[in-house]
Parts: sequence; structure tokens; C-alpha cells
Amino acid sequence: MARYLVTGVAGFIGRSIAAALLARGEGVRGVDNFLTGKRVNLVGLEAMEFMEGDLSDPAACARACAGVEIVFHEAALASVPRSVADPVGTNVNCVDATLNLLVAARAAGVRRVVYAGSSSVYGDAPTLPKHEEMLPNPISPYAVAKLAGEHYTRAFARVYGLETVVLRYFNVFGPYQDPTSHYSGVLAIFCRKMLAGEQPTIYGDGEQSRDFTYIDNVVHANLLAAAAPAEKVSGQMMNTAMGTRITLNETFEILRELTGFSGKPAYAEGRAGDIRDSLADIRLAGELLGYAPIAGFREGLRRTVEWYRTGGGVE
Ligand SMILES: NC(=O)c1ccc[n+]([C@@H]2O[C@H](COP(=O)([O-])OP(=O)(O)OC[C@H]3O[C@@H](n4cnc5c(N)ncnc54)[C@H](O)[C@@H]3O)[C@@H](O)[C@H]2O)c1
Repeated sequence: MARYLVTGVAGFIGRSIAAALLARGEGVRGVDNFLTGKRVNLVGLEAMEFMEGDLSDPAACARACAGVEIVFHEAALASVPRSVADPVGTNVNCVDATLNLLVAARAAGVRRVVYAGSSSVYGDAPTLPKHEEMLPNPISPYAVAKLAGEHYTRAFARVYGLETVVLRYFNVFGPYQDPTSHYSGVLAIFCRKMLAGEQPTIYGDGEQSRDFTYIDNVVHANLLAAAAPAEKVSGQMMNTAMGTRITLNETFEILRELTGFSGKPAYAEGRAGDIRDSLADIRLAGELLGYAPIAGFREGLRRTVEWYRTGGGVE
């Protein structure tokens, strides 16, 4: 019997959360519509009950939530540039899907929903580090949609008493991140290209910085968020990150060492909707969850490169 539901389980982060739950011997159900997720990501998760379903369909949400106690909601159309190209599709798969899921979770008697939020909601306000009391300032359709999902999630805690926790992830990377689309995360693309001896493209001057967060830290925060006492965390929203930042140019240099790539990056014009700098204040997650990063950036990058080197991410 599944105690946990992971949405977006054929995607990067959902897959990683499901694997961690199964490793603890938990009963897990996963749902995905393969919009961006891949069947190959389900390899190794055979102990999980998998349901193919689209969360924009309320009936699929009801089936997914039946009998579960805790939901990790990772499903989304998770890309800024993709949202610029397809704002309506982003809304359907981020906002409609989240609302349908919350309605179904409440109806099914789910106890807690942990929502995958995004640092993109902070937008390009120059204040660093980003802390949770800052006013959101979404500058892409994706950020708007992720923020709407946050607000719905928190409102369900207020008006219906559903326990909810919002984790705002900052640029997550690691094994199982899809490197094959131009909508993919920058580190996934860089790893794949540099391992293949191809020149990666940096959009902008490369001095933009990110709080790149290795996946193990995000999984860790989710497990803490599921277990923390309701009186402490329900209805709360908190950053989930490393709490350090690095520029793309610096990251490129580290990747050169790790991959053996000998060339230089190409530079192209910055992309619409992208923010300049990103760095999280992670004190609130520390206070509320006891969260602190468990894996560092360099070690995470090394493990990630090894995963791509040994054929990860190729179907
Ligand atoms: N990767 C990051 O750096 C990052 C940063 C901040 C927030 N997030 C959030 O974390 C979550 C997971 O992101 P990811 O990087 O694993 O993305 P991903 O694209 O790898 O995974 C998302 C999964 O959701 C599925 N999905 C999309 N719409 C669906 C629907 N309507 N019904 C069922 N399944 C659906 C996709 O098929 C995919 O498998 C997303 O909510 C994203 O917004 C990710």
C-alpha cells in the first residue's frame, strides 16, 4: 500500500525522491504523463506503483491520491525558456495541475503536500541573498505559474487545514537531469556537451551567478519536510539551496577539469526571462526543518559528470 505519492516521477527530481523513499523501504506511488519525463528514468523504481496520468485531468489526480498520506508534488513544465515559448502549456501543467492535485488530495484525506517551488519567483530584484520575506517578482510565465502554485498550496493549508510545505528550489542539478533538450538545465547541457567534446554556449557574459544545488540536498529537504511537525512547518514556504553561488564562467572552468574538455565556451546574447544572480538565504529551512546541505557543489558536480560519462541521460 503506497503511503507516498510522487508526482512528476519520470522527471529528474521526482525520480530522485522516489528512489530515496524506496531505499527506506517505503510504499510509493508515482504519477507522470511523460510530458518531459522519460520511461528510462523509471528503471530501478520497479518496487514503486507507477500510474501514467495527466494531472490536468481531475480524475487522474483522484486516482493518484487515493489512499496516500503524503504527496511530493514535483510535476510541472519546468523551464523558463519553454514557458516563454508556451505560456499556456506552462499554466496548464503548473497551475491547473497543482490546483487539481490539491483538490484531489483534500478529497482523498491526504495529510500533507510538499510542493516544489522555484527560486524564479524572486525575479531579478538585486537583493542577495534571496530571503523568504522578499516580495516575489516573477519575470517569466514559468515563475508566475510556480508562484500561483505556491499560493494555492498555502491557501489550502489556511482554508482547508491540509498540511502543506513549500520548498523553493534553487537551480538543482545531478544525475537523471535531462541533458538532451535546449530547455534542459544549464549544467546538464554543459556536462553532456563537454564530455562529447562539443563547445557549450553561455548566454550572456558568463558572470551571471547561481546557487547551484546538488540533488541530494533537495531530496534531503523533501524528506525533512515530510516528517517535520505540522505546527512548525504547515503553511510555510522556505528556500532549498546550498546557500553559496558561483558564476557560469567559474563553473565552466571546474567542468573543464572534470570532463577533460580543452576548448572555450561560445557566448551568445542573454535569454529572455533569465535572471542575473541567484543566491539563497537558507536559514529558515535550517530553523524549521533542521536542513543544512549534505553534499557540496564540487562533489555533486563530480558525481554528475560521472553519471553522464557512464551513459546516464541517454535513452
Ligand atoms: N530542476 C530545477 O533546477 C528546479 C528548480 C526549481 C524548481 N524546480 C521544480 O521542481 C519540480 C521538478 O523539476 P524537474 O527538474 O525534475 O523537471 P522534469 O521536467 O525533469 O520533471 C517534471 C516531470 O513532471 C511531469 N509532468 C509535467 N506535467 C505533468 C502533468 N500535467 N501530469 C503529470 N506529470 C507531469 C513531466 O513529464 C516530468 O516527468 C518542478 O515542479 C520544477 O518546477 C526545479
